[in-house]
Amino acid sequence: MANRSETATALARLTDFVTPQAIHVISSLGIPQVLADGPLPAEEIAQRVGANADALNRLLRFLTTKEVFSSDAPGVYGLTDMSILLSQEPLATLLSSNMTYKVFAELRHTILTGQPAFQQVYQGEYFEELANNDKERRRFEASMAYRSAALFRGVEQLVDTEQATTVADIGAGGGQLLARLLRARDGLQGLWFDLEEPLTAAQAHLQQAGVADRCTFAVGSFFETLPNGADLYTFASVLHDWPDHVVGDILRRCREVIPPAGRLVILEQLLDGAPTTVYGQDVNVMVMLGGRERSVEDFRKICLSSGFEVSRVRLNRTGVSALEAVPA
Ligand SMILES: C[S@@+](CC[C@H](N)C(=O)[O-])C[C@H]1O[C@@H](n2cnc3c(N)ncnc32)[C@H](O)[C@@H]1O
Repeated sequence: MANRSETATALARLTDFVTPQAIHVISSLGIPQVLADGPLPAEEIAQRVGANADALNRLLRFLTTKEVFSSDAPGVYGLTDMSILLSQEPLATLLSSNMTYKVFAELRHTILTGQPAFQQVYQGEYFEELANNDKERRRFEASMAYRSAALFRGVEQLVDTEQATTVADIGAGGGQLLARLLRARDGLQGLWFDLEEPLTAAQAHLQQAGVADRCTFAVGSFFETLPNGADLYTFASVLHDWPDHVVGDILRRCREVIPPAGRLVILEQLLDGAPTTVYGQDVNVMVMLGGRERSVEDFRKICLSSGFEVSRVRLNRTGVSALEAVPA
């Protein structure tokens, strides 16, 4: 057992409220980028980013104790491996957002009520707010592209496209999944479906992947209707954004358009097989959207109540897992 002072030190690391905000502020001011050509005095950095020199100097001095910056002379700051990473995408965009901090300040609201703190803070839903906030939208897209690039590695082996002619990806975002599936199988057609906002980035991504000519794009909301014409429907990191009854509604809409021999594939980090980092993601979607991460059994129940039967599960501990279902 650790002694009391070691425990207090470990606890202090968990209760430090300065560091995350400090990193957000230096990221939003673009300070790592300002230092790209070499160390500068705090006054010079402050002048370039429009900050107060004394306050900034004290913040940067603090961040040297966390190895975020180096300082070989008093009041002069340079990059470290950490701030080099912070100067690059996607972290530069991801950490410059303030929305998540504001919402997590109201975490208590979620814990007391079970409702997403986001709605309490912004008086609306997350995706509605993103539609009206370009900066946060860009941050969300950068975070999804970053996350999906890692999560979808090898996803072609999890989604069986052999029997399909058209795959409709619902809530397809930047198009990362469709690009991978279409590249993996010549002749497969794709149908991208999402809200308006990610359309342009998705078209560019599929174009770049060389498969845009096999893809159609449909803008719409899965709260109204789902597109028909596909025999394979995929939902990747979409259903974890919503509570059970909403997921049930979305899947019922999918059941209305899917052909009798069609298949549904849900790609999520299933609780049964995911690394423990999924528990952080579970809290994140609870607070921001009222969603949750789920086990195979959780999905089995929702599928059954929506007219689907789970026919195959492929667990993957390093990325997304795949749960396949067919009309019951
Ligand atoms: C967490 S992202 C996942 C994106 C993509 N599937 C991926 O894994 O990279 C959730 C997606 O759901 C979309 N979305 C949210 N509400 C929607 C709605 N009502 N109808 C259609 N798509 C929606 C968002 O725009 C976003 O692209």
